[in-house]
Amino acid sequence: MSYARITGTGAYLPEKVLTNADLERMVETSDVWIRERTGILERHVAADGETTCDLAEAAARCALEAAGIEPREIDLIIVATTTPNRVFPSTACLLQARLGIHGCPAFDVQAVCTGFVYALAVAEKFIRTGAARCALIVGAETLSRILDWSDRSTCVLFGDGAGALVLEASETPGVLSTHLHADGHYEHLLTVPAGISEHPERFRSGEATVQMKGNEVFRMAVNTLGRMVTEVLHANGLHKSDIDWLIPHQANIRIIKATARKLGLPMERVVVTVDRHGNTSAASIPLALDAAIRDGRVQPGATLLMEAFGGGFTWGAALVRF
Ligand code: COA
Repeated sequence: MSYARITGTGAYLPEKVLTNADLERMVETSDVWIRERTGILERHVAADGETTCDLAEAAARCALEAAGIEPREIDLIIVATTTPNRVFPSTACLLQARLGIHGCPAFDVQAVCTGFVYALAVAEKFIRTGAARCALIVGAETLSRILDWSDRSTCVLFGDGAGALVLEASETPGVLSTHLHADGHYEHLLTVPAGISEHPERFRSGEATVQMKGNEVFRMAVNTLGRMVTEVLHANGLHKSDIDWLIPHQANIRIIKATARKLGLPMERVVVTVDRHGNTSAASIPLALDAAIRDGRVQPGATLLMEAFGGGFTWGAALVRF
């Protein structure tokens, strides 16, 4: 059986930057509060008319170029998103058409902030079983479209963006293990409580926005990610010191620091983008990975631990040899 190896990454962030100072003019908040409680300084916001697929396409083309791959070589497309362009077709199908290719399977994965880890795990299984040889995986979000911009407890936290990677069959590892979990009993703590089928009137009138009990989500995230780290190390027979880089979902610097502490990793070994991107949900891990590869921090042979926690609740991790 082949391994699945990351052969290229790409990223795209919308041009418009919203700073904490901008938010101070919109809601009753302060730069100090946002920085101290979350670590966020600024986030990117998609322009009017700029869609999740636009962001996904830009990141995907960047990843294909890095991998030296032509679109026609792709035989699987998975887009992780909670903010798809449309009800249907899936954003993955729209992306496939943009890339000018035909026939390969293309579908979206919806696991909110854990979406990218879910997509990576699914693509890895396709490659390991021989069902695909060259997968394009994208995490892309326009979270700004489902925020209540008058709710200071949520609107300061999120941002828009897309990250992508090419995963190819290889005789050398590769993705070493993936770990996926969910527990739907906590849906009330983090949700957009309306949609196509439930409260469609609220969905149609634009009242379907992110609602979160931040404090409870925070506690759950820290505890769950701590257990996740132990699960990954145990499954691979590794020690904490075997991990070179933590590439976490970027929700809150305090959650990231707690996971790093659990791993005994100094913050110099943790890729942090939450300060400049905010929480971009499914896009945050591939955006962070791309940043650390392009600036030379992550080198071939490095062992990477990616982990995420999000709405659902969903949580998961991937251990990857780069
Ligand atoms: N500016 C200023 N004050 C704010 C504020 C803002 N943007 N948002 C909330 N507050 C206030 C609250 O109203 C509360 O005031 P009160 O004590 O008078 O009631 C106070 O700040 C503390 O709120 P609390 O929610 O307890 O703060 P916190 O330390 O838990 O931090 C979050 C809030 C949202 C930053 C934090 O809970 C968090 O990051 N949660 C997890 C988020 C997350 O990961 N979500 C997605 C999962 S992927």
